[in-house]
Amino acid sequence: MIPANVIEDLKYRNRIEDVVGSYVTLSRSGANLKGLCPFHSEKTPSFTVFPNDGHYYCFGCGEGGDVITFTMKLENLDYRGALDFLAKRSGVTLPEDDKFTPKGVSRQRVLEMNKCAARFFRDMLFDPETGAPGREYLLGKRGLSSAVVKRFGLGYAPNSFNALRDHLRKNGFTREEMVEGYLCQVSKKNDKNIYDCFRNRVMFPIIDVTGNVIAFGGRVLDDSKPKYLNSADTPAFRKSRNLFALNYARNFCSENLILCEGYMDVIALHSAGFQNAVATLGTAITPDQARLMKRYSDKVVISYDSDEAGRKAASKALKLLSEAGVDSTVLKMQGAKDPDEYISKFGADRFKKLISEGRSEFDFKIDGIKERYDFDIPEQKVKAGNALVNEIASYYSVIEREVYIGKAAEVLGMPAESIKADVNRVLRKKRYAEKKTKREELIRSTSAIGDRVNPDEAKSIKCARLEKQVLGMMLSREEFMKAGTLKLNAEDFYTSLNKRLFEFIKKAYENGGFDIGMLGQEFVSDEISRAVAYKDDRERLNINTDKAFDEAAENLKAETARQKKKDEGGEDAFDLIARRRKEVNK
Ligand code: UTP
Ligand code: MN
Repeated sequence: MIPANVIEDLKYRNRIEDVVGSYVTLSRSGANLKGLCPFHSEKTPSFTVFPNDGHYYCFGCGEGGDVITFTMKLENLDYRGALDFLAKRSGVTLPEDDKFTPKGVSRQRVLEMNKCAARFFRDMLFDPETGAPGREYLLGKRGLSSAVVKRFGLGYAPNSFNALRDHLRKNGFTREEMVEGYLCQVSKKNDKNIYDCFRNRVMFPIIDVTGNVIAFGGRVLDDSKPKYLNSADTPAFRKSRNLFALNYARNFCSENLILCEGYMDVIALHSAGFQNAVATLGTAITPDQARLMKRYSDKVVISYDSDEAGRKAASKALKLLSEAGVDSTVLKMQGAKDPDEYISKFGADRFKKLISEGRSEFDFKIDGIKERYDFDIPEQKVKAGNALVNEIASYYSVIEREVYIGKAAEVLGMPAESIKADVNRVLRKKRYAEKKTKREELIRSTSAIGDRVNPDEAKSIKCARLEKQVLGMMLSREEFMKAGTLKLNAEDFYTSLNKRLFEFIKKAYENGGFDIGMLGQEFVSDEISRAVAYKDDRERLNINTDKAFDEAAENLKAETARQKKKDEGGEDAFDLIARRRKEVNK
């Protein structure tokens, strides 16, 4: 665990209003500051910064935390990464991770090791003998220039089980570091041995926007499988939160970013002058990656493979990007399976033209429907028509719907009125269904069923309510923190999130002090937001007396004990619903 005083000092040097203020325009509102929430899109500011105790909370979306969680979210860093970022920002040096945590491999060490490995792979590629197969592949077969090979820091992992291992060992890296950093793996036959993960592959280092080598992808030289091997998540790498080549593309994306599927597509595009190309890392695009792109550009050109899988992936990317507030188009690549092949066949100018002809979401959908159905067969045309009608009904704006009705009429060769009538029918049905789910949601939320962050709340609203009071008071005042850790045990907490929170707080408090920023070590941001909300709720009340705390603590003990006994007796679903109804109606 990182000591509380280190975190306190970091927070003191990085005032929350300054850090938040460098991303969000804030204006005064009493003792606090307000601005537009960077975590959801809104037109009136509900994002509030509380400088007095260094936290933020959005009354619109419920995101909350302190300067560390804010940095984690906005800079896309893990906990340790955020501490480093803030340390750098305020000109202090943090002690090595190992000094904080005796066990475990630090992010810093993995980064150092990756740098060493990247140099090794590069040296091997240019080694006259060992590197011949790698050079033959990259420069020969794939036709890359040596300038591009160098720019991307490409390398070659020799056909050996121990070349990298021995090199890293010589450079002072431990077995644990090599395994945790996904460069070596433990032998199944003899667990004393470890061997290289990447063998006889050309290597693509993945570099983050600050220049760290965070991971690797490696491609085979022939048709064997798996074609690409990618680092798993390590202390220095989260696959779902990074993009290949963003370190270069970030300087060329004022107009747009080009999103591809593969490393080689990106490299081909960069060599052809499209330096704004990035790729996901061997997975489908994630919401984190969509938000990451939004931070660099408002527009993305999706340039996936032209096969069925590529089309499916493009449709998912369109959805995620639009949710992240990015405007995107999809390329229509014909005569080539991917951008790499397209450029080598038809050249950069044709590709440029392709970008300018990128299809909007709706046109992309029309194309998909055209491909799926044969309009000359009446039954299929009906299906195509229904599919289009459903698509159109999914647009919220009346203007958009009008425009698309016109387009659909043209494609189907039918009067717009007929299509419009069907769209309206679907809309009516949808509205009815929406109302119904809204009603159900309301019932569920009043009874807390369906809470994902702390699902146990539904099992005992009473316990959860008392836990919130107790934790809220503990988090807001030192004296309650002390009283809570003395009076209560983890076993007095019934719901799992609150129990974990209590355990963590107690442990930290007893080991030299708790700071809300420490939650980042073990809790995800939704959970931290919950904890912050407990604290805020409590601070808004004017009844935080010793008596109120003692009462809440006593009641919690009793209620948890009662509830646990009841659980042993086995309340079934019907009892639960009956009790829930009573509680809601009270
Ligand atoms: P593709 O199979 O389309 O490969 O996978 P590619 O990019 O065209 O590669 P080349 O041109 O044959 O060299 C697209 C991406 O999916 C991931 C990789 O990131 C790859 O670049 N992938 C693919 C894997 O992670 N593992 C695999 O086995 C295959
Ligand atoms: Mn390819």
